[in-house]
Formats: sequence, structure tokens, C-alpha cells
Amino acid sequence: MPTRHDRKTALSRRDALKLAATGAVALTLAACENATGATESTATTTPAATGPFAPALRIPQILKPTHTSGDTDYYALAAKTTETEILPGVRTKVLTYGDTLPGPTIKATRGRTVVLTQYNSHTEPISTHLHGGHVPVSQDGVPWDTIEPGKDRDYRYPNTQPGATLWYHDHSHMTEAEHVYRGLAGMYLLDDPAEQTLGLPTGEYDVPIMLRDAQFDDAGQLVFTMGGFKDRKTLLVNGTLPPHFEVAARKYRLRFLNSANERGFKLSLGDAVPMQIIGTDGGLVPAPITVTEFYLWPGERVEVVVDFAAHPVGTQLVLNNSIGEVDAVKSVMRFDVTRSATDASVVPAALRPALDLGAPTVERQLVFKFDLAMGMYLIDGKMFDENRIDQRIALGATEIWTIRNDDLKPSIPHNMHLHLTHFTVLDRNGKPVDPAETGPKDTVTTLPGDTVRIKVKFTENAGKTVYHCHLLDHSAMGMMAVMEITA
Ligand code: C2O
Ligand code: CU
Ligand code: CU
Repeated sequence: MPTRHDRKTALSRRDALKLAATGAVALTLAACENATGATESTATTTPAATGPFAPALRIPQILKPTHTSGDTDYYALAAKTTETEILPGVRTKVLTYGDTLPGPTIKATRGRTVVLTQYNSHTEPISTHLHGGHVPVSQDGVPWDTIEPGKDRDYRYPNTQPGATLWYHDHSHMTEAEHVYRGLAGMYLLDDPAEQTLGLPTGEYDVPIMLRDAQFDDAGQLVFTMGGFKDRKTLLVNGTLPPHFEVAARKYRLRFLNSANERGFKLSLGDAVPMQIIGTDGGLVPAPITVTEFYLWPGERVEVVVDFAAHPVGTQLVLNNSIGEVDAVKSVMRFDVTRSATDASVVPAALRPALDLGAPTVERQLVFKFDLAMGMYLIDGKMFDENRIDQRIALGATEIWTIRNDDLKPSIPHNMHLHLTHFTVLDRNGKPVDPAETGPKDTVTTLPGDTVRIKVKFTENAGKTVYHCHLLDHSAMGMMAVMEITA
């Protein structure tokens, strides 16, 4: 194991106990589900001088191709340290792709290849992973396939999978948590021409919203402490403090992504405003599902359509996080209905057929558990080792994975993410899962004590890659494993 990482590999016993306590708090809050249900509730994250929801929602810029040839679009991005304004009047040092926080959005089209030239202008190795991408393992940005400082490489993404809200982020082992925390993350929107006829809201009415938390010191600089969840009490939405967003009285497609290292959200809008879930990690669900709240744990995406026409111009609707443990993390952003509009968009009753995964022939059991003595996070009692193969999988076999979270005491949530494909969640503790988990998924939450079953089938790409906890501080501290898919 590389020595340059040794400083951060393990928690001290004291840190571990502190962390354990945090996990317990988070769970208690998750369990009591104290919906605030308030419109115009106060946000304390924004400094008094500017007031709550002062920033306007920032839409990450769309990355322009450097060139295009035939059916391939070429992009280039450098990972490097730069400064940006997050807190009013303060220059904060961040580590980003292409100078902005978050990184620019890559807009890909199903059927067209993307070649991304990734430069590493950082001082540590990086590895860029397309989360949710069905890609050959050589293009997957796995932890052992890093780009050294000063070097670059091309990633080639085939984009043959159905349309989805994907994202790209660093995956260098043991440093992924700090790198992503400091800013190495961006959206990757895979547009599917076959879905254009559905009539869903498009253009400026199709809005990516990346949620995360952060800790700032007195000088306004980001503080990263491994496992330091409890001190990350400032929410960032597309890289700003909780913003407001001026909307027209019509339908919007909102693509939520949780890019936080460890924080989960339970989102509701205003006073139980209905939201139609149209998509999850892997893209569209079979049919829209109307909810008034949904969970969004790290790594996950949920797409909803909200019809602001139901609210008179002048209405302000706060997006609440009802599992926020303090006020500062309870109010995420505010939607201000500022104008009327015509609206030709629709949400059709049928969106996309469910994943057809066939009948299972293989079953596996996975156990996620924190080892208090070691201060490390383990899967099946083992720390990540890139040279050990933990699961051997036959290409094309349908499998059931039973994932158990054994961290009841201290209680710690874990989020199982696997690379290369999408799965369906069968049940949680023997019961049906939430509506927001019924679509195609690549990441699934296990709360302390949970047993979750998924059905998965690897069909497109063979080779060696990883599955891991997407609470990135956990994966950085060992909670990752290797699967090898063989044709
Ligand atoms: Cu979003 Cu293996 O990661
Ligand atoms: Cu991934
Ligand atoms: Cu975990």
C-alpha cells in the first residue's frame, strides 16, 4: 500500500468513537423524520449580511467539446486547485475540474462516443470515474488505474446505455474522499434521443441540482477531516450556499444528485407539494410516481417533475431536508414562482419499461461493518485490497445480492454502489422499498441493521472493477471490494 497515504488510512480510537456517536445521532434523526413542512423557513447557513437564500441558483456551465468527428465528441478537463467564491467576499481554495465548483456538466448523447482527455494538474494521483456509466473496465477510472501528477489520459465512454443523470468524480483510493470533498465532481447528463418524444420539460426547464455539505474554517477555507461528518454543517447547492431559484409557473424537471461524502437528505418541497418521480440512478422509471418526500443518500440521483403552475406568482417554496440534525442543514434552497408561462410539456403515464433482468441463478451475501478496534470500514470482514478478487461473476448471469448493514451499535448507514451496470432493489427487511428506489439503481442505502436485496446482471463489460460504500469517507477507509466479471 502506498506510503504517501498512510497519514489518513485509519481513524484513531478516539475519532472512531466520536464518529460512532455521530452515526447514532444521524440515525435517530432519520428515524424520527421530523418533517418541517414549512414554507419560507429560515436558513441559518447564509451569513446574516446577505440573508437566507441570497445566492441565485448557479447552473454549472456545459462543457464545450474541443472537437467533434463522426460519432465522437472530444472533451478536455484538468483537475487542479483554484479559488472560487462560496462564502460572500471570500476566495476559497478548491480542487476542481475545469476551474468551477462543481466541475462543468458534460452533455452526452446516447449513440455518440465521448472521449474525455483528463489532465492531472494536482499534486496527487487522480482517477476519473463515470458513476453509473456502462463502460469497459479499462475506462472505468478504478482506484488502481490512476493518472500521476503532470500526466493525462483519455477516457472513452460509449454511451450506449439508456439516458440517465450520471456524474463523474475522483476515485483514487484513499484520497477519493478528500478529492471529491474539495470539489472533484461534476454532472454527466446522458441524453437519449428516444426519450425526446415523451414531451418532458427540456432546456432551461431541465435543471441539475447537486447537493452536498462542507465545513469551513474561520478564514472561509474548506476543512477536510476523514470521517468528519458531524462538522460539515454548511450546505452547498451547485457550489453555492443555499440559493433561491426564480421559476416560471409551469413544469420543471429537477435532477437531484447527492454528491456529499456522508450526508443523507430527505427532501420535501414547501408544505407537502407533490413531486412526480420520473427517474432514478439509471434513468427513467416505468411510470411516474407522485410523492411528497424522498430520500437521497450519497451517490444517488432522483429526478422529479414539479408543476409550479399549481402556485400563484409570488409563492416561495422551500426545499426542506427533514433529517437535517440542525437548522443550518434543514433548508436546502428556495423556489420563487416569479412569472407565469405557457407549458407544452407533459409527464406521460408510461416512461420506460423496467429493467428486464431475468431469473436469478446465483446468490451472494455481503456484510458492511465498521471495525471499531481497527478504526476501519470493512466488507465481509476485509479491508479493500486491489489484488484480491472478492466476487467472481459470470457475464450474463442474473444474481441476487443480499446486503446487510451490521452497524446497529454504533449505528452507521452504508450505501452500496457497484460499477458497470444498474440493478433493481427487491426489498428492504422483507418489505417493499420506497417509490424513489423502484427504478434502475446503481447505489442503494442500507440503514443500520438493514438487509436489502438487489437483483443485478452484468451483461456488457467483462473485467475487474469495484463495489463499495458510497459514503466516500468509508470507502477511503477500506469499505471497497473487487469483483471480476468473466465472459
Ligand atoms: Cu461514484 Cu465507485 O463511485
Ligand atoms: Cu460508480
Ligand atoms: Cu459506509
